[in-house]
Amino acid sequence: MKLYIPMDSAAKALGADDVAEAVRREAEARDLDVTIIRTGTRGMIWLEPLVEIDRGNGREAFGPVTSKDVPALLDGTLDGHGPVENIPFFARQTRLTFARCGVIDPLDLADYEKHGGLVGLRRAIDLSSAEIVAEVTDSGLRGRGGAGFPTGIKWKTVMEAEAPQKYIVCNADEGDSGTFADRMIMEGDPFTLIEGMVIAGLGVGATKGYVYLRSEYPDAIAVMNEAIRIARDKGALGEDILGSKRSFDMEVRVGAGAYVCGEETSLLNSLEGKRGVVRAKPPLPALEGFLGRPTVVNNVISLATIPVIFERGAQHYADFGMGRSRGTVTLQIAGNVARGGLFETAFGITLGEVVNDLGGGTRSGQPVKAVQVGGPLGAYIPVANFDAPLGYEELDARGGLLGHAGLTVFDDSVDMLKMARFAMEFCAVESCGKCTPCRIGSVRGVETIDRIARGDADAIPLLTDLCETMTDGSLCALGGFTPFPVMSALNHFPDDFATQKEAAE
Ligand SMILES: Cc1cc2nc3c(=O)[nH]c(=O)nc-3n(C[C@H](O)[C@H](O)[C@H](O)COP(=O)(O)O)c2cc1C
Ligand code: SF4
Repeated sequence: MKLYIPMDSAAKALGADDVAEAVRREAEARDLDVTIIRTGTRGMIWLEPLVEIDRGNGREAFGPVTSKDVPALLDGTLDGHGPVENIPFFARQTRLTFARCGVIDPLDLADYEKHGGLVGLRRAIDLSSAEIVAEVTDSGLRGRGGAGFPTGIKWKTVMEAEAPQKYIVCNADEGDSGTFADRMIMEGDPFTLIEGMVIAGLGVGATKGYVYLRSEYPDAIAVMNEAIRIARDKGALGEDILGSKRSFDMEVRVGAGAYVCGEETSLLNSLEGKRGVVRAKPPLPALEGFLGRPTVVNNVISLATIPVIFERGAQHYADFGMGRSRGTVTLQIAGNVARGGLFETAFGITLGEVVNDLGGGTRSGQPVKAVQVGGPLGAYIPVANFDAPLGYEELDARGGLLGHAGLTVFDDSVDMLKMARFAMEFCAVESCGKCTPCRIGSVRGVETIDRIARGDADAIPLLTDLCETMTDGSLCALGGFTPFPVMSALNHFPDDFATQKEAAE
């Protein structure tokens, strides 16, 4: 009998290690032949710890499982969900980037290969740099870190730059509130990120890569380091990759713990050992990035999606999606929601489907009031706009932004004035200090919202004016996008701003 128990940190936080230990003890006491395989998570966090059992006729899912459930689990008397693929939340997904996550042992390279791993790299090895870059361009892949910049165009710029050394930098800072896709893939299928980075190196002519990984992800750091060691050991990294005479090596660098260090130029400064302050652009990192050399900076999900594009072909990937948003989006459903987790699907699903159908509404049972899409710099979207399809341009047209595809759900007890204040305060705390509209504007923003809360109606046009200055005058999106949550709160939920006024009167 084989038992699959996640070692993902969300599952561990919900007791997966205790369950694994209880299984081990119970099996020993019963003298049962049980193999425990620690996997990543399937992404249905409300069912964690989710245990799968294979008694020889396929995997059957149980969850949430506690240590107390283990005897019944082994007896075969515990109620289960059937195969994971039959659970509606899972059945409705299109898993491309996350196809192996939760299925394989993350640190078993042979298991990885058995499930399609390294097929893409083997194909890329036989292609020229220009052909590799063209494949990425044809796939329509856009940066999943936030800006949605076409990955192929970025790679082309680096490929065409002449330099003695080029770099691939993976942005694993994952600072957006309510997001966890980067962590999930690094803990659950690290070789896919490694494979993506090697293909990127072959494509642009870089021989060295770094994963800039946030310090708050100790499990992901440990898994990535071990996966890099194994990949190097087995010839998938380092000199002469898979006998190709090409080389690429990489290492993990632990982040310094600032939201702004996720901004690519600030990240590069931090990676160079400097203070994480934003650099003015130009020069673009693609031309003068890490140590002044041409550098690809890509998000974890962008890079982890590269292998499947090469495995199945650019067209297969591009066939999913809508408009200029091609392929799949890895939604992270969080906040006050009944069923939170990772949902990978073709672009085009509506916000209402995600929050109400998949998420099952709020966890509190109260009506949904708003969803913040795209992290702390994303707009609060009211229920009236839930018909909005999730795509870069489509959300932009509704005054929103997709960002890293995190969705944080709020029920009707939320006070949107407080959320607007929080956005300004977050900007003040996290500002790198380089430019005045953000450094000073965010502090003035908190003060102005406090005036509104005290009932000063004159402060409302002042806040609008301040937001315009921040939008137009900030050097990067931290100062430049903070007005999204602030103004969306003010525009969509004016009552919360008026109520405060009445209360003060
Ligand atoms: C304040 C700020 C924070 C950011 N944080 C992240 C982050 O945590 N992870 C990330 O991938 N991109 C982040 N970005 C976006 C990066 O600057 C950059 O666009 C991205 O790493 C490029 O990779 P992609 O094209 O694959 O998305 C942030 C941007 C800003 C302005
Ligand atoms: S907008 Fe804020 S974080 Fe960005 S460069 Fe200016 S001060 Fe720094």
